[in-house]
Amino acid sequence: MSDRIHSLSGYIYEYQKSVQAPEQFWARIADGFHWQKPYEKVLSWNFEKPDVKWFEGGQLNITENILDRHLYTRGDQAAIIWEPNDPNEQNLILTYRELHAEVCRFANAMKAQGIEKGDRVIIYMPMVPEAAVAMLACARVGAVHSVVFAGFSASALSDRIIDCQAKMVLTADGNFRGKKSIPVKALVDEALEKCDSITSVITLKRTGEEVNMQAGRDYWWHEVIEGVSSEHKAEVMDAEDMLFILYTSGSTGKPKGVVHTCGGYMVYTYYSFKNVFQYNQGDVYWCTADIGWITGHSYIVYGPLLAGATSIMFEGVPTFPDPGRFWAICEKYKVNQFYTAPTAIRALQAYGTDPIAPYNLSSLKVLGTVGEPINEEAWHWYHDHVGKGKCPIVDTWWQTETGGIMISPLAGVTPTKPAYATMPLPGIQLAVLDNEGQELKGNSVEGNLCIKFPWPSMLRTTYGDHERCKQTYFSSFPGYYFTGDGVKRDEDGYYRILGRVDDVINVSGHRMGTAEVENAINEHPKVIESAVVGYPHEIKGQGIFAYVICDLEGRSEESLTQEIKDTVTKIIGPIAKPDRLLIVSGLPKTRSGKIMRRILRKIASGEGDHLGDISTLLNPEVVTSIQEAVHASKA
Ligand code: PRX
Repeated sequence: MSDRIHSLSGYIYEYQKSVQAPEQFWARIADGFHWQKPYEKVLSWNFEKPDVKWFEGGQLNITENILDRHLYTRGDQAAIIWEPNDPNEQNLILTYRELHAEVCRFANAMKAQGIEKGDRVIIYMPMVPEAAVAMLACARVGAVHSVVFAGFSASALSDRIIDCQAKMVLTADGNFRGKKSIPVKALVDEALEKCDSITSVITLKRTGEEVNMQAGRDYWWHEVIEGVSSEHKAEVMDAEDMLFILYTSGSTGKPKGVVHTCGGYMVYTYYSFKNVFQYNQGDVYWCTADIGWITGHSYIVYGPLLAGATSIMFEGVPTFPDPGRFWAICEKYKVNQFYTAPTAIRALQAYGTDPIAPYNLSSLKVLGTVGEPINEEAWHWYHDHVGKGKCPIVDTWWQTETGGIMISPLAGVTPTKPAYATMPLPGIQLAVLDNEGQELKGNSVEGNLCIKFPWPSMLRTTYGDHERCKQTYFSSFPGYYFTGDGVKRDEDGYYRILGRVDDVINVSGHRMGTAEVENAINEHPKVIESAVVGYPHEIKGQGIFAYVICDLEGRSEESLTQEIKDTVTKIIGPIAKPDRLLIVSGLPKTRSGKIMRRILRKIASGEGDHLGDISTLLNPEVVTSIQEAVHASKA
């Protein structure tokens, strides 16, 4: 398929076409795929309900476009290269032919366990090739996968299982992370104490640690695939059938299950992958994300494999066995496109350039970032020391809900500007709105980032609660999809993401709802009230700052602080553990009883001397006592 844009004028031309005639534009891309039945209507949409359908009437299976279609043209080409946590362990390469066989075999094994089209299957696994096989096997049989990041706690896992009423869990005994080995199956066992929808659990042997196997429920991965056929006829899916659910945090309540469907997601992840990264056949592409996040879904598994790419999956962490690991892997596989998070860049930047020096990085052509704003210093370090000044950086802005990259340079095509995601991809019609909902036209404006026209990989609903989808994304500014991000469009029409404008914080590129962390903190029996805000953090982008009112009777602040942090780890996972937790006597409130987060954010950011007028607060004296507590805790 020749869907690649090669020049800036080509981009401008394609963009214009995509706005003038979106249906023809996307039909052209979609027609490059194998459809079991052609679609009848490219698009129907209504942002009020919301109700969006792409390629209605069309039938397909995404795995036929990933696997079967590539068997004849690139059966022997590596589809997935797996690099283990320990560099001394044997790596694994799965060709398209082998991946096809593994997916079909596991699809048959899942069917034998009673999985049918439409059933929900939880994948709670380390970064091993079987995790990708699991996702694709679900898609093959028409089951809806919901991958849960293996760093989430048992409690977070059970919440997700219950919300989607999953029937099966695919997991592993343990997870190697640097020098550590983390139990995984034990957490599944704990989670399942609260869930009754699960009928079977399939466990992959990875770390070899002892696990508990419950008869009639638990099966070993290697046993269920033994002697199973590697041929499987893919389930016929409607374009708008669910492909997967991925839970993500918002500003209120529990994480919501973002729903993506088969046809549109296929078309958009393929198209955006090819264009943003300018992937050429034969290139080796590496995205360091975890499959537990949308980046892992769209740009380790689906997008690259739809494009027939060779995609690396890395099990470990950037600093094990030493901070040169990323660069060692780039050299080992002659990586051409490298895609990571600003947090990882900043963490590695802190080690200086010595860990890079021993490695030959001349294969690199494109560098990418995702998940959070990249500061200019990190951008330059990445550009100069990793890319040696010759690799364009694609700063890609998008979200779990968007399914694919929305704003980004196309590598080598769009002139870059440090810290700018630059321009929208073809088909993406952005709007900057002021707080009253007026669209700000022209350049040099700042406001709320919205999207005013559907794109194929947009979320369709939030699982089991369509009203929540409407309220969260389509109600703040009627007629628009609201992203929750602030944005600036500069004098050149370039977009710079300014960060969240809601109560969501971005910690190391991971999205956290402040309410979610507060709910976890409040689970501790000694906690009376809490407020959580983000603050600038040198490595993580944002850190989590928790102000907590406690019943201190008979307890030391120190032990209570630790216990509350442990409670958050237990309820959500280590990624949500507050970086700073301050026990305070009160929280600043308005006369109507609302917590003044603006003030708490300023104090947490070290801007406590510039709070403005606080005399209208119900309890202005609390502010002084909080400031004293902050100073005392730093001392
Ligand atoms: O605030 C934006 C930030 O990450 C949010 C989406 O998080 P999530 O759904 O977990 O997906 C992350 C990976 C796509 C956005 O609302 N974000 C993502 N990419 C960027 C970014 N902020 C600035 N620049 C980016 N390139």
